[in-house]
Amino acid sequence: MEIIHITAECYPVAKAGGLGDVVGALPKYQCKAGHLAKVIMPMYRTKFLYNNNFTVDAKGTASMGNLTFEYTIIKEATNKLGFDLYLVDINGLLDREKIYGYNDDSERFTAFQIAVVDWLSKWQHNPNIVHCHDHHTALIPFMMQNCFAYRDKLKTIPTILTIHNAQYQGWMGWDKANYIPAWDSWKQGLLDWKDTINPLASGIKCAWKVTTVSDSYMHELRSNSNGLEKLFEYERGKCYGILNGIDNEVWNPKTDTYITNHFTYKSLVKGKQKNKEQICEQFGLNNELPMFVFIGRLVGEKAADVLPAAIAAIMHSFYGQCSVLILGSGDPAIEWELASFNARYQGYYYADIGYNEALSHLMYAGADFLLMPSRVEPCGLNQMYAMRYGTVPMVRSTGGLQDTVKDMGEVDGFGIRFNHPTVEDIHYSVSRAIEVYQDKTHLNWMRKYMMQIDHSWEGTVAAYDSIYG
Ligand code: ADP
Ligand code: GLC
Repeated sequence: MEIIHITAECYPVAKAGGLGDVVGALPKYQCKAGHLAKVIMPMYRTKFLYNNNFTVDAKGTASMGNLTFEYTIIKEATNKLGFDLYLVDINGLLDREKIYGYNDDSERFTAFQIAVVDWLSKWQHNPNIVHCHDHHTALIPFMMQNCFAYRDKLKTIPTILTIHNAQYQGWMGWDKANYIPAWDSWKQGLLDWKDTINPLASGIKCAWKVTTVSDSYMHELRSNSNGLEKLFEYERGKCYGILNGIDNEVWNPKTDTYITNHFTYKSLVKGKQKNKEQICEQFGLNNELPMFVFIGRLVGEKAADVLPAAIAAIMHSFYGQCSVLILGSGDPAIEWELASFNARYQGYYYADIGYNEALSHLMYAGADFLLMPSRVEPCGLNQMYAMRYGTVPMVRSTGGLQDTVKDMGEVDGFGIRFNHPTVEDIHYSVSRAIEVYQDKTHLNWMRKYMMQIDHSWEGTVAAYDSIYG
């Protein structure tokens, strides 16, 4: 089957979070399973672009409202990612350093989608599946089915929309309706949700099937999806929850290229300790104490706003009994507050504000506990990476966290779960963690058990096959 993934992120080309990891791995494993999976994404100015060779695959001209633009599609020359990678260059719009966060993101991603649809309409044949990811690509099913220039060629191609995060929907005022290439105005309702153009809602209405990245999140969306609850309820017949996998080739404590002290479940005690010593030396922490880490975007969804008060409470009750290391970036106020503790709790706490792929790997490898108090977590990859490196996940029971972590109080449990993203629940969970840290037999049993849990992509690929039909 020929599958075209359309996305804003793909590791290692450009990654802001889990979407990048997923789209960097799923197509690779689909190819291994015998499909012809391809990825098309914007050409940002990333290191990957400059360090690799590309050939020009196509050029075209398209319009967005009054703007006529030229696009160039380049293809990575060596198939080094295990799938064909295409990048769309639109001069002045996409060729920037960051993926998101510009005032004209609506224009950037709409132009990207138009270029992709235009390109697809010129193919000699049709792919079997067009697979869109999140709101940045969610107008594509509408365009393929309703834009006069494209629908004759493209409307019969099955489209899938995978929602990695329904909080962000790409809202645009109706004044931007002319951005979308001339379309059948009878179909206005397919773009609209609550009087704005809502790309994510449009994708849910128009895609042949809609998936999200865990079963629990699929259920949650019907009662909590930033205004789309009724739509998810109405469309439930075509919606499926498919849990993400993790790329066991990239995330493998035995071979991880970002760490120097490799280990397996058989050598985990020594292996983890060596990695912990390395981190502790780097940040001036005590390597004998249980180490708690948080890695992630410092935003409300991750309950990062609760972290400063939670850390103050932990340091108040357990000062000298544990250390805490934070790696993240996001809301400037949270960044500032977390960094301001560096001096106050020196020796027991450090917040490294920023994005650091290498350090994240070392933290999964060397930490004892990974905290994820998320308010919303569609799947969550961090907890699965943590498990693979024998780090106990401490998670709020929501979305994919609830589907992947079993509390240590249950039979075969290996993690710590709590119900509320609050200081009290986090504090209580830390006290449970410190207690189990003293019980090395139990702790090492849990570490060994979770390191052997299979979260590989093969099962997920099969689940997508069954919905591709
Ligand atoms: P989300 O996509 O919502 O941010 P996920 O748990 O699915 O959450 O994936 C987050 C990914 O981003 C993981 O690979 C995690 O290690 C990585 N990550 C998040 N923040 C940072 C950071 N500051 N530095 C390095 N990696 C990070
Ligand atoms: C989103 C979600 C996260 C999920 C990731 C990959 O960013 O917030 O929970 O793991 O996408 O699907």
